[in-house]
Amino acid sequence: MEVLLFETYEEMSRYAGRMIGDRMKAKPNLVLGLATGSTPLGTYKELIRLHREEGLDFSKVVTFNLDEYLGIAPTHDQSYRYFMDTNLFNHINIKKANTHLPDGKAKDPAKFCLEYEKAIKSAGGIDFQVLGIGGNGHIAFNEPGSPRSSRTRVVNLDEETIKDNSRFFAAVAEVPRQALSLGMATIMEAREVILLANKANKADAIVRSVEGPATEQVPASILQGHPRATFLVEKEAAAKLKGKYRKVRA
Ligand code: F6R
Repeated sequence: MEVLLFETYEEMSRYAGRMIGDRMKAKPNLVLGLATGSTPLGTYKELIRLHREEGLDFSKVVTFNLDEYLGIAPTHDQSYRYFMDTNLFNHINIKKANTHLPDGKAKDPAKFCLEYEKAIKSAGGIDFQVLGIGGNGHIAFNEPGSPRSSRTRVVNLDEETIKDNSRFFAAVAEVPRQALSLGMATIMEAREVILLANKANKADAIVRSVEGPATEQVPASILQGHPRATFLVEKEAAAKLKGKYRKVRA
């Protein structure tokens, strides 16, 4: 796993956006794995800028998102579908039919999860996966203890995650308790992975993932075993790292 350090969130985001743009230029039909949450917003802004100002072409790109709340309709303003449409897809020339998210309203969620895995396989697998990290080290909604062998499935959200995500809802009670999430094995099969982290509330999760043992108790630490994983970490999130890592200006 490689670790790159950035002075600011803006620089981290620019660098991540350009990494994605470069992979798209090399492979116009890139299969891109995407995350929601606050962290990748700057990266999506940079992708929109690259599209508008530099003509970055999304017409052949296929996307799969990591997760979706169970029980929430795509039209709900806290659904991850709504988030992706408003923060990225509506502003670039991607074909909506090429964008995939788990369906929070699936009649048979377990069956839907199997189909989602199949859809990823038949698209050729994920070429480039974007991840954020939870304060508890989760990636997607693989909470601590998620097995390395896990696949897309229905998961229960940790109390800490429910509390963290309540900032987007009117009250904690409104945060869904379950989600559909890509599994650890599915994420580890992506050909390349980047994990983005900023702010001091991620510093513990980052030091445990990078410098602690690889353990299912800290899901992001499992990425230590990925052949092509890069952590892009802004200064505050990197504050507890003890090792020497490459500093990047972007
Ligand atoms: C979102 C996801 C989550 C977030 C994580 C960090 O699709 O899979 O793992 O990446 O909870 O969220 P933020 O970026 O809001 O701090």
